[in-house]
Formats: sequence, structure tokens, C-alpha cells
Amino acid sequence: MHPLQCVLRMQRCQRWGPLASVSWVLLRTCRAHSGLPSTACSSPERQQEDGVWKDFSSRLATGPTFQHFLRNASVPQEKPSSEVDDPPPYLTVDELSGRQRKVYLETYGCQMNVNDTEIAWSILQKSGYLRTSNLQEADVILLVTCSIREKAEQTIWNRLQQLKVLKSKRLRSRVPLKIGILGCMAERLKEEILNREKMVDILAGPDAYRDLPRLLAVAKSGQQAANVLLSLDETYADVMPVQMSPSATSAFVSIMRGCDNMCSYCIVPFTRGRERSRPVASILEEVRKLSEQGLKEVTLLGQNVNSFRDTSEVQFNNAVSTNLSRGFSSNYKTKQGGLRFAHLLDQVSRIDPEMRIRFTSPHPKDFPDEVLQLIHERDNICKQIHLPAQSGSSRVLEAMRRGYSREAYVELVHHIRESIPGVSLSSDFIAGFCGETEEDHFQTVSLLQEVQYNMGFLFAYSMRQKTRAYHRLKDDIPEEVKLRRLEELITVFREEATKANKAFVGCTQLVLVEGLSKRSATDLCGRNDGNLKVIFPDAEMEDVTNSGLRVRAQPGDYVLVKITSASSQTLKGHVLCRTTLKDSSTYC
Ligand code: 5AD
Ligand code: SF4
Repeated sequence: MHPLQCVLRMQRCQRWGPLASVSWVLLRTCRAHSGLPSTACSSPERQQEDGVWKDFSSRLATGPTFQHFLRNASVPQEKPSSEVDDPPPYLTVDELSGRQRKVYLETYGCQMNVNDTEIAWSILQKSGYLRTSNLQEADVILLVTCSIREKAEQTIWNRLQQLKVLKSKRLRSRVPLKIGILGCMAERLKEEILNREKMVDILAGPDAYRDLPRLLAVAKSGQQAANVLLSLDETYADVMPVQMSPSATSAFVSIMRGCDNMCSYCIVPFTRGRERSRPVASILEEVRKLSEQGLKEVTLLGQNVNSFRDTSEVQFNNAVSTNLSRGFSSNYKTKQGGLRFAHLLDQVSRIDPEMRIRFTSPHPKDFPDEVLQLIHERDNICKQIHLPAQSGSSRVLEAMRRGYSREAYVELVHHIRESIPGVSLSSDFIAGFCGETEEDHFQTVSLLQEVQYNMGFLFAYSMRQKTRAYHRLKDDIPEEVKLRRLEELITVFREEATKANKAFVGCTQLVLVEGLSKRSATDLCGRNDGNLKVIFPDAEMEDVTNSGLRVRAQPGDYVLVKITSASSQTLKGHVLCRTTLKDSSTYC
């Protein structure tokens, strides 16, 4: 029997009983099975660790009780930043503390992962860890990973090969380097990672970040440790993410996690679990704090951000069904009750009229009229909608189980454009899904031409195990055909986006300044309401909010920029004046 299974089984039958069948909290000894060179076990550090290990094993034998897991299952309350969580019975408070060990965090994948990195760091900071941006001085390296496509996972495997070299150099040091895989890849591959890469010390799935201090404490004693338990209610509502850059003008605020849609190609429901929404009150509190810190933009985040439904309090209208976009259906039974996305958007946008509100990533099925109306009416809700189509062919959309036809999607686009004049649209598309014919592909090309998106994210299909497509469909489009189709989509998208963006030439746009342009030290860059990048020379201008004073734009300022040229990704222009969001209107 594999040593990992051995420990697992022992824990299941002796201690955790039925709980262990849903729990993926694993412990594994390093020693004979670790794959580390034997010299690693004879250093003074190792001998000291051997003592720790014996002590640890004896405490493990009298380990966590059922009560311990029940207690940990309740919603944690926020604690003062210096306080460390109660240790499990087999660890002391001191062992649980980071004791100023330095953590290096590296993020891969989507915005949710960027936000998750901040959550993980917030938890570790409270537990006595320090953050470093220097890989060489790190005591702990954590990779926040993505599984959405094969390529994303390959990047992590390659990165682990590089880190292996770093780790082996540190085997004899006073503080051996520990490496952790966090997020979707930990969740998808579970112990396969520990088996394949013996140098990985910890695994933490997307719902297990609160457990990081314990996992790292276990890893410190020379064992591999993992928690890939998915939760039905974890939203990290009480964990205030730590802003990475103090000068940042914008922040992400996670409002919901998981996905119930089960589109046939997508691994997300398996790595991030069921949909659950964070209580409205805690979201409003976080946005208020960000506004007090002077941030000028928040992006509400979720895998299905507009399916938001806070059921944490019993509401008066509990029997009311969730409204869907016209002509759309969902893969699950219509949900009832709870505070919906329109309510949240309304409340969030009232906090600070000078704060721009965006949201991503939505599903097209959840755009009822009340959401569109609110976006149209409220000045600080950006007129920008991401509307992932995935394909322009109704036949492929059905195979993808997206819950709409091409016709319903196009009708929604028209309805959105009528409801929110001047709205910017973006989309995701997948090239070469199972069974996609040239005719289907052509339908996608024609949808790109019909809608003329301002921004697009295009991908070649990558078969993922566990998904419905993996079980029921054939990944029958050759790789070179997928890539050729992807190239064609990119070309058409660029042509159409250039046309759409050229419509801004001659217009004045309200731009939130982010800082210096990456390409030129004499230019500034920022974003317009539609989230397009705008570049303009750093020049003196009038401040219309301060009796015509002459000023230069700073990060976080709103300025009006007259657009003089446009490409598929960027607008260029010259700055007119500094203003406020409330007092300005963009015009053509
Ligand atoms: N292959 C390729 N692209 C995918 N996406 C999701 N799953 C896959 C997959 N298996 C794309 C979709 C989604 C975006 C986040 O990633 O377009 O909207
Ligand atoms: Fe994946 Fe579909 Fe859920 Fe988006 S909506 S995360 S594509 S299953």
C-alpha cells in the first residue's frame, strides 16, 4: 500500500470516522518515502526535526477529535491582527505561528486567483509570517495555481522544476525551503501532485486557505500536508484581503465563489465547488474601507458574479424566483429568494459616487432588466459588460450546455445596447470545441463581426478530465485545426475591435489615471469607463475642481482626455483637465 494511503486509512478508521470520507486533510511522513536524499535526514537540523517528529507523532496519536472539526466548522469571527488561531491539539500556538518566516507568493490565472492570493496572505500575516518579493530569501514559496486549460497546469509543472533546484540548495540550511501549491491545481490533482513532485510540501484547495498556518506547521516538521476540502459556505467574508500595492487606485472585492452552471467544457465547478455568495453587509463594509483608503475603483469578483444571491438572512421576498435574461435558461433548478445582484450593485454604488464599480465575470443568463437599468442610471457603474459567448453556433452552444442559442444571445446584445447606450462589450470564445465543424467556426467568426466587441479573450479548446465533455464528447478537432481557427478568430476580433475603438476618435473620455505608461516615461496611462487603456502625454492642465489651478495628473485622478487615435487594444489622446466623476460627462 502507498504510504500516503496508509496514513489516510489509519486516520479514517481510527480518528475521523465518517468525517474523513468528505475530508481531504492529509498528512504524510517525509522520511523513507520522501524522495529526498538520505543526507537530508542526517543534518543537525534533521536530527532536531527527528525529535520534533517523534514528539509530533506522539501528539498526533492523541490527535484531533470530532469536536475539534465541529468547532472549526463554525463561521470564524475576525480577530485582532496579532492573534493566532487556536492550535489543533497536536500543535502548540508557537508551532502554529509563522515566527517571521518569509513567504513568497506567486499568482497564476484569473482575477479570482489574484484576490485569493491577497486572502491567503492576509491569513498568513495574521499568523506571524512576513512577505517577501525576493524569491532567494523566501522560507516558504506558495504558487496560487490555475487548471482551466492544460497549458496553465504545464506552466506550474515547469515552475516546480526550477524551484526544485532552489530547494535542493537549501536542504542543509537552518530553515529549509517549503513549497506549496494553492488553488485549482491542488484541488484538481490532489495527491497526484504530492506523488509526482516529492518536493511539494503543502497543498491547499481554494476553500482551505484558513488552514494554511496549520498546513505549514505540519510541513515544518518534515511531512507533506494537504487540505483540499471544498466548502458549501466558505466565502472568506471576514478576511480583509491585503492590498498588494499601497499606491493602487483599484481593488478586487470577491462577492461570490464557485459555479453551478456545469458548462460541459469547464473544470471550474470541480475545482472551486458550488456557488455561494458572501453576505451583502460584509461586502459593503469592505468597499467602505477601500473608499476610506482613497481607492477609486472596485471590481466585484465571482465565477458567476451576476448570479449573486445572498441568503444569509431570511428575507421578506423569499419565494421570488431569480429573473433570467430573456430567452435564457439555466442548467439547474431556478433558485428562489435572497438578495440579488441588482440589490448589491445598487448598494455598492451608493457608497462613494467617486468610486467606479465594475464586475467580472458574469454569465449572459443573469442580466435581467433591473440590472441593465441600474447600470444605465448610475454614473459610477461602468458601462462595460463582459458577455462570454463561447461560440457563435447554436449547435456548439448546446453541446457546451450554455443555456442559450446564438439568436437569444444576439437579442440580448441588442437589448443591452438599447438599455445602455454607448456600452462597451467584451467576450470569451473557445476555438475547436468537440465536434465543431468549419460551418460552426464560421458562425463564431460572423458573431464577432456582428457584435464588434471592444475586448476579447480567445482560447483553443483544452479537454479537462471530470467535465461532461470529457465523459460524453470526443475531443476530435486536431490541434493544428484548433490553432488555425483560433488565429482566424484573433484576426477577425482585432479588425472588429479596431473599428469599434476608432469610433472614440474625436470623443472626450473620462480616464482614471493609473500611473506612468510602461512604454514611455513621458506618457501616463489610465482606463476609460469601458476599461480600455488610454495613453496620453504627462502635461500640465487645468484643475476644474480647484478654481482653474494648473496641475499634473496623479494616480487616482480623473482626467478628461480627447482621443486622437485608436487600435484594437489602446486609445491615445491628449489631456484636457482634471475633474471628478460626478461633474464630468464623456461626449463625442
Ligand atoms: N478550454 C479552453 N477554454 C476554456 N475556458 C474554460 N474552460 C476551457 C477549456 N476547457 C475559457 C472560457 C471561459 C474562460 C474563463 O476560459 O472561455 O469563459
Ligand atoms: Fe465554467 Fe461555465 Fe461556470 Fe464559467 S459559467 S465558470 S465557463 S462552468
